[in-house]
Amino acid sequence: MNDSSTENKTVLITGASSGIGAAFARVFASNNFDTVLVARRKDRLDSLASELSRSYGNKNTILSADLNTPDAVESIYNRLNEMNISIDALVNNAGYALPKPFMAGTWEEHSSMINLLVTVPTELCHRFAPGMKERGEGWIINVSSIAAFAPEFPGSLYNAAKSFVLHMTEALDLELRPSNIKCLSLCPGLTSSEFHETMGVKEFLSYIPKWRWMDSDTVAKQGFDAVMKGEHIYINGRVNRALVNAFKVMPNKVKYFIGKKQIIL
Ligand SMILES: NC(=O)c1ccc[n+]([C@@H]2O[C@H](COP(=O)([O-])OP(=O)(O)OC[C@H]3O[C@@H](n4cnc5c(N)ncnc54)[C@H](OP(=O)(O)O)[C@@H]3O)[C@@H](O)[C@H]2O)c1
Repeated sequence: MNDSSTENKTVLITGASSGIGAAFARVFASNNFDTVLVARRKDRLDSLASELSRSYGNKNTILSADLNTPDAVESIYNRLNEMNISIDALVNNAGYALPKPFMAGTWEEHSSMINLLVTVPTELCHRFAPGMKERGEGWIINVSSIAAFAPEFPGSLYNAAKSFVLHMTEALDLELRPSNIKCLSLCPGLTSSEFHETMGVKEFLSYIPKWRWMDSDTVAKQGFDAVMKGEHIYINGRVNRALVNAFKVMPNKVKYFIGKKQIIL
């Protein structure tokens, strides 16, 4: 895209301390955006901000926050207002999958995951879209997953949460597109990051061949290009696109069987 059109624009990225979020920070910064980096690990955000300032000479603001604390979004919104920072692009990326079936997890564990994957991104869109509308331009990337299309995993609420993100993003895009705000649901498949380590399944997944994995930089770059082009859904990678196409036409009985056998595709 034309670099001058993104000069002095600011992107807010959640989950910027590792993986796809950190990769998004690099892509936006290399396209002249200033950044607001949000995550819990401040040391990670500090070193990413220094790296970005050194490499791209942009302005990087760190907001270290646990998005699962009450009023986290309101407090981010208020702090940015106090600092006179307007948000032109929003990347709702922070997330994890609870590695426990429904009955094994406490309600607090389930509700925290639902909050981070569903409520927080929706509230951030609701907070920041009005400013984008006022300024006549905006970009929103909500990181979903091919899990939004996939068979369920016994007792896991992750696919349902990512499905919400997919549908919510499309609904917002339909409403906001006439105001020149482009909303993209980004659907990566297996991506190398800290995600599976956090879940405690990294070893277990080591049998999956390397070619099935994408790297975070490619996923983020494709997401950036897709939202700038005005796409509203982007599935990263040919294999993942083929899988999603198969899921879309798969009879529910077959999907249910795959879920029952806990087959990872
Ligand atoms: N990796 C994959 O295979 C894959 C595939 C499809 C979709 N995705 C999605 O991609 C997104 C990014 O994941 P990733 O793969 O980059 O994983 P990751 O490397 O584990 O990054 C997750 C990010 O979320 C942040 N985060 C987690 N809990 C948070 C909280 N309570 N408050 C604030 N920030 C929090 C983490 O930062 P702190 O720990 O510093 O807070 C970290 O920056 C997620 O939404 C995930 O569901 C991943």
